[in-house]
Amino acid sequence: MKTLHDIKIEKAKIEDIDEIFALEQVCFNEDAFSKRQFKYLVSKANGVFVLVRRNRKIIAYLIMLKRKNSRHYRIYSIAILPEERGLGIAIKLLEFAEKTALKSSTHKISLEVGENNIAAINLYLKLGYQKVGNRSYYYADGSDALIMTKEF
Ligand SMILES: CC(C)(COP(=O)(O)OP(=O)(O)OC[C@H]1O[C@@H](n2cnc3c(N)ncnc32)[C@H](O)[C@@H]1OP(=O)(O)O)[C@@H](O)C(=O)NCCC(=O)NCCS
Repeated sequence: MKTLHDIKIEKAKIEDIDEIFALEQVCFNEDAFSKRQFKYLVSKANGVFVLVRRNRKIIAYLIMLKRKNSRHYRIYSIAILPEERGLGIAIKLLEFAEKTALKSSTHKISLEVGENNIAAINLYLKLGYQKVGNRSYYYADGSDALIMTKEF
């Protein structure tokens, strides 16, 4: 049985991009990041890009970004392979995000989530995120995003 005990969170590296891109294709449609975007996010972006491995395989990732001088982090993307969902991996990654934020004395995280993405909305609500607004036509299919934040 799969558990959370045999997974490992580690920093993403350039050589992981092909596998992360494959995971992205399975998890998102038109809004999937390109390899070029991942390359930028791994190497240059001001933030934290981590992946989760079970044995050697990459099964999830989390990207959080912080603008210079900003007082909060933003969850830029989070994705879990379908066969690894429902085990608490997203919760583990978002707990990791809060710990990371606190290490830099940051006490707020914000994010955008698709208005129809029930799994993700439930996830964030469960962790105490609150809806604070929305962005119209945010996604490629024309749907809106909810803006959610959590202070801790
Ligand atoms: C949303 C996503 C990240 C959740 O990952 P996960 O590891 O399966 O989530 P967890 O197992 O940690 O679940 C935590 C909570 O999220 C909610 N949740 C997760 N999947 C759900 C589903 N299919 N339906 C309803 N609620 C769900 C529940 O509240 C769950 O708590 P519970 O198990 O006590 O009910 C995952 O479905 C995914 O990768 N989706 C595709 C990419 C995506 O949409 N990313 C978010 C972009 S904003």
